[in-house]
Amino acid sequence: MSCYFGCSVKCESILVARYATFAALALHEHPQCRQKLQHDGEDYCEWFVQEVRRFYPFFPFAAAIVSHDFDWHEYHFTQETRVLLDLYGTNHDPQLWSNPEVFFSERFRDWNGSRFNLIPQRGGDYYINHRCPGEWITIALMKVTLNFLTQSLKYDLL
Ligand code: HEM
Repeated sequence: MSCYFGCSVKCESILVARYATFAALALHEHPQCRQKLQHDGEDYCEWFVQEVRRFYPFFPFAAAIVSHDFDWHEYHFTQETRVLLDLYGTNHDPQLWSNPEVFFSERFRDWNGSRFNLIPQRGGDYYINHRCPGEWITIALMKVTLNFLTQSLKYDLL
C-alpha cells in the first residue's frame, strides 16, 4: 500500500508514531486528562484522540492541480492551477471551532461529524475523493497507545 509520499506501509507506521507522540505530549501538557482517560470510558478516549488530531500540527497542506475550470462560491478555479488545501488552518478556523487554540477534548461531545471541518488526513469522502483511508486505523492505534500509556505504564518525563 502506498501513502502520500508514494512509499511503503512502513511510512504510515511512522505517521501514526508521530500522532502517538503528540498524544503523549497532550497527556503531559494536560495532566488533568489522564484521570478522565483512566475512568471516563470509550467516549472520552475518542474525543481526546480527535482533539489531538485537530490540535497538533501535522500535514500543513494537501496539494492538487485543478483538472478543469469551475467556480466555487466567489472563486474561479482555472485548469492546471496548483492549489493547496489548508488542513491545519481548517482545523484551527475560528469560524468552525470555538477557541481553536485551546486543547479541549469535550468539544467533540457535540461535534456534527462533518467531512469538511476536521480534516487532519484530508477532507471529503473516502470513496470519491482522496481522503486518507487509513484514518480509522490511525484512530484505533492512537486509542491503543493511550490505553497503554494511562493503564499499563508508569513513567516520568525527564
Ligand atoms: C497519522 C497518520 C496518517 C496521516 C496524517 C495521513 C495523512 C494522509 C493525507 C493528508 C492524505 C491525502 C494526501 C493527498 O491526497 O494529498 C493521505 C492519503 C492516503 N493515506 Fe494516509 N495518513 C495517515 C495514516 C495512514 C495509514 C495508517 C494508512 C494505511 C494503512 C494510510 C493510507 C493512505 C492512502 C492509501 C492514501 C491515498 C488515498 C488516495 O489518494 O485516494 N494513511 N493520508
